[in-house]
Amino acid sequence: MLYTNFFVAVLMSEVVKLATCLSIVYIQTGGLRQLFDTLRDTIIRQPIDTFKICVPSLLYIIQNNLLYVSASHLDAATYQVSQKLLFWKLYRVTYQMKILTTAMFAVIILKRQLLRTQWFSLVTLVLGVVLVQLAQTSEQITSGHGPHQNKLLGFSAALSACCLSGFAGIYFEKMLKGSDISVWMRNVQLSLCSLPFGLLTCFITDNTVIKEKGFFFGYDKFILYLILLQAGGGLIVAVVVKYADNILKGFATSLAIVISCVASVYIFSFQLTFQFSVGALFVIFSIFLYGYVPTPTTVATTYKV
Ligand code: C5P
Repeated sequence: MLYTNFFVAVLMSEVVKLATCLSIVYIQTGGLRQLFDTLRDTIIRQPIDTFKICVPSLLYIIQNNLLYVSASHLDAATYQVSQKLLFWKLYRVTYQMKILTTAMFAVIILKRQLLRTQWFSLVTLVLGVVLVQLAQTSEQITSGHGPHQNKLLGFSAALSACCLSGFAGIYFEKMLKGSDISVWMRNVQLSLCSLPFGLLTCFITDNTVIKEKGFFFGYDKFILYLILLQAGGGLIVAVVVKYADNILKGFATSLAIVISCVASVYIFSFQLTFQFSVGALFVIFSIFLYGYVPTPTTVATTYKV
């Protein structure tokens, strides 16, 4: 079996998200009839708007599939959970470059202006979070598990996902903030558009296995965990992007990585290394630097791209 369960997992996380958001819209509108009326008004009667949301839907589906390609390390069936986790972490480390691609698209698409100090803080943030993550994984990553080309595949998939993440995130932010449609309704639209793309990917990549062994062949607790994590994470991302923004999301997730490492000291007896401490300091420093407002004389040097 090649990837199948991962592609199905991407699709299933969209189904979970769709069900959750439909339930919330149902509660908000106050009944089944009102729900259908709202769906008709926002989806069917606004075809251009629905079409626009197909762009991030498609990009997120590709991005999430790249994530699983990278994490699954080719043949999922022959690898143990520990190895899946190793490549998942390798991917995550490389994937931190998305902080910079996101800022780049925020400047291009949202015309946001970033100060020189803010660009510097973003680069420091990436370095910090990479150091923190490598402190946990460098030994495993350099120990040579698995063929070299598969690491290269994981790395390329991660880099491509960085660009998609930056663009899709900023595009979705523009859509969320540019209208008064609720974040839950926007997610219903997003998931509805994702379903055909997701289904198509499943059948294109592994039609034969799905036909022979069924849609859910190869499912295990790890995949179920990923589906719930992906769906829950996606909804939190949407709320953060609506009420804050994508760049701040980068800071929040990086700080969360540092905090989870500190928690691992108590839960998993993780040893805090010098490298980790430097990384954590970088992350904390970058947060303060990003919020630093220079005196009026230095404002004139605002950096525009
Ligand atoms: O890494 P990044 O921040 O780009 O990841 C965002 C994730 O959130 C993606 O996996 C995307 O599928 C998910 N997402 C979502 N629903 C949204 C926005 C993002 O599931 N409305």
